Amino acid sequence: MSLAHSPNPIYQKFQDSLSKPSYPASLNAPERNGPQLPQCFPQLPINATPTKVAEQDLETPDNWINRNPELVRLTGKHPFNSEPRLGALFESGFLTPAHLHFVRNHGAVPQVNYEMAANWTIRVHGLVEREVTFTLQELQEKFPVVSLPVTLVCAGNRRREQNAVQKTLGFSWGAAGVSTALWTGVYLADVLDYVRPLRRQAKYVVFDGGDNLPNGPYGTSQRLSWASNKDKGMLISWAMNGLPLEPDHGFPVRVIVPGQIGGRSVKWLKRIEISDRESQHHLHFWDNKLLPTHLMPDQARAEKHWWYDPRYLINDLNVNSVIAKPDHNEKLYINRTPDENGIIASYPIRGYAYSGGGRRVTRVEVSLDQGETWTLGNIEYPEDKFREMRHQDPFYGTLDATERDTSFCWCFWTFDVSHDALASCDALMVRAMDEGLALQPRDMYWHALGMMNNWWFRVAVHRTVDDDGKFVLQFEHPTLAETGHAGWMERMKVAGEDITKPVFGEKGRDLAPRAPKQGSDEVCLTKPGISRKITLEEFKAQDRQQPWFVVNGEVYDGTPFLEDHPGGGDSMLLVAGEDASEDFFAIHSAEGKQKLAEHHIGTLVTSLTKEEPITTQSDEIFLERSRWKEVKLCTIKQINHDSYLYRFALPKRDQLLGLPVGQHVFVRLRRQDTGEMVQRAYTPVSQQGTAGFIDFLIKLYLPSALMPIGGKMTTGLHQLRIGDSVELKGPLGSFMWDGPSIALWKGIKRSIKEVGMICGGSGITPILQVLRSILQNAESETRVWVVSANKTEQDILCREELDLLFALHGKGRFKLHYALSVAPEEWPYSVGRINDVLLSEHMPRHSEHGLILACGPDAMITHAVKPGLQNMGWDIEKSLVVF
Ligand code: MTE
Repeated sequence: MSLAHSPNPIYQKFQDSLSKPSYPASLNAPERNGPQLPQCFPQLPINATPTKVAEQDLETPDNWINRNPELVRLTGKHPFNSEPRLGALFESGFLTPAHLHFVRNHGAVPQVNYEMAANWTIRVHGLVEREVTFTLQELQEKFPVVSLPVTLVCAGNRRREQNAVQKTLGFSWGAAGVSTALWTGVYLADVLDYVRPLRRQAKYVVFDGGDNLPNGPYGTSQRLSWASNKDKGMLISWAMNGLPLEPDHGFPVRVIVPGQIGGRSVKWLKRIEISDRESQHHLHFWDNKLLPTHLMPDQARAEKHWWYDPRYLINDLNVNSVIAKPDHNEKLYINRTPDENGIIASYPIRGYAYSGGGRRVTRVEVSLDQGETWTLGNIEYPEDKFREMRHQDPFYGTLDATERDTSFCWCFWTFDVSHDALASCDALMVRAMDEGLALQPRDMYWHALGMMNNWWFRVAVHRTVDDDGKFVLQFEHPTLAETGHAGWMERMKVAGEDITKPVFGEKGRDLAPRAPKQGSDEVCLTKPGISRKITLEEFKAQDRQQPWFVVNGEVYDGTPFLEDHPGGGDSMLLVAGEDASEDFFAIHSAEGKQKLAEHHIGTLVTSLTKEEPITTQSDEIFLERSRWKEVKLCTIKQINHDSYLYRFALPKRDQLLGLPVGQHVFVRLRRQDTGEMVQRAYTPVSQQGTAGFIDFLIKLYLPSALMPIGGKMTTGLHQLRIGDSVELKGPLGSFMWDGPSIALWKGIKRSIKEVGMICGGSGITPILQVLRSILQNAESETRVWVVSANKTEQDILCREELDLLFALHGKGRFKLHYALSVAPEEWPYSVGRINDVLLSEHMPRHSEHGLILACGPDAMITHAVKPGLQNMGWDIEKSLVVF
């Protein structure tokens, strides 16, 4: 039987009811489902669209549509944008009934009755040999009718998570902006074949929707080569799950584009133009973009070129997966008693996954330890049932996926976990990979429009005990579509945690009390009345000694911070002439942000983008001044009672660090207990020229009875385990030993004949680098005096090396002295703190060719070193370098 010429019963319904002033059958006289499919296929869902208009729609232009009041409205009453509750969607199975299918309408739904539907035409024109206008009847008579199961996904699915980080330009979707239906229609490829696009001229297929929006109809386009390829599965469709389309889903006819974002599936299709250029519709440019992450919403809104840049257009979906079971707030009573076979009960974690472009999801992995380890889940692809058998049907036309390799639908996954394992984990996490080997990322790619969010889906696990003393787990999703329901992202944000790098569980959280911190968007960073516009040239030409830097497109003068910045003046010089937004937001509290506004001097007229000339270094050198780079902790060696040698591996074994002698690096880490970002400057102790790793000698200041909070940074370092990462950036510092006898300080080179070095405790580290460089350079004639001051003999760091250097070079060139607050009985060096006498005996006399380097506690520098040197005649402004 040739289906192309048999009257299609769905269409027949339009014909039959021409006499009635009615709309799709599912509304006025609800047909609950379409004609049955053979048992071997997934069965059609039962449609429960109500028969009356919902309260919220009564006052809107859509007051003629019967909508499921259970759908969560995401944009108020109108226009209608809605998703089902995730649990309900998941329970409804592979094919989503129309009353649960998500809806995305940019405006009012075109009001089409049966009569209008029967006369509805689609004009196909433009660069074709044969322009035609089809009624729906002609379409189904001329071309083979086919049905395909296709998952539609709104590009904004999971946007609420992005909005929780920082508000984007888009409204909040939960994780149920995705649905699947069996769509019936004709292949767009067959229609294109019929109209014969003009070869070499025609490049795009442009679709016009019949809705009436402020900037013209909704419309978008496809490349002609894709649209003409039947394997891409694009349809002109008039039925969904065996029933006429619901008004919200495009009644009477729409485009279905499998594997691409829902935004490409134009509803209420009126016109198809074959063209040499892509769609010029307003929303084709101003929607469905994945913008660069640095671009803030205001700037994006103000600058047109981003929207017209083809690099940011979204077509194919990206790989994504979500945990549906356990649902948000679901409770699980833990049962650890083994059954008669000795087996402890298990819980099946379940969810959906999908990818784009016809690519199949090839693995779904679950982690119970916050991403440390992953285990494969089981994947089920109900879509595969359609590959097993070809079926022809008077309603659905041809159902034939027997030769199709592509996957256009979501799949479901399951991961069984024992109650025991579940009870001891703090979070469940899922990620999927597709056959293009794209893997869901750990980190969110936040951007101004908030689309394609596919970072790991994380569900927090809370352990509680109920009133009867039973052990219960309660699960918390990241966000929920419904307003007023939080999820862990909003909860943690309010608690001042960094939700882009969430840490779950109570372990160690009580160590340091956390002050709630404000979101970056909540503190005003600009000064009222400042309207100066600063060009990029002006900004870049600024003297580094008066450092200007940019935060969120605004320019600030960092000069006042040179003196009193808690991170040291160097941290200002490091960002001079740079966009410091990332560093600034990573480490500053609301108070710090308020301070910034005082130094606001203007707005940069051209944005400093990340693609801009940031220093690109060869791979041989690791450090970069304007980019944080990760290193992994590979060994920890205890040096004495409170100091440890931390060795971090550089990404490549033969990579050099790239740190000049006398300079430091910034080390940044996120505290595992508080989630707080902490950053300090350190000088490594690894030898110059070492490849593949960097060593830091760290004296730990851990929380104790005397100091309950402990050193922020060193406590964070102490929490690191082998394999954990920290980030480095540099070099920084105004001093450099440029060997053999040259010091470069504040931009001036000086020939140095004598160097005095004074260090307290772990202040030895920068000193040691310079000392080694001088003594190990045979050409250097510089003489060196070192005083290392410590509490006890055990506290002296690097003593072995100092003594060895002294043994090798001590005669004439190197004088080494120690001072201890508490000394053993037979101690050949000084006892007591640094003072005038000690300095005059163990430091060189002041001279034009002399320099003093000092590193130690502030009190030592201010109250002992500076006055002592002054008394010796040193000009401390010109000759004392304090690290
Ligand atoms: N087509 C028209 N004419 N008007 C629209 O507003 N929205 C698009 C697309 N087609 C839209 C449209 C978007 S953004 C999506 S995600 C899908 O329709 C949603 O399809 P659905 O509402 O049937 O789920």
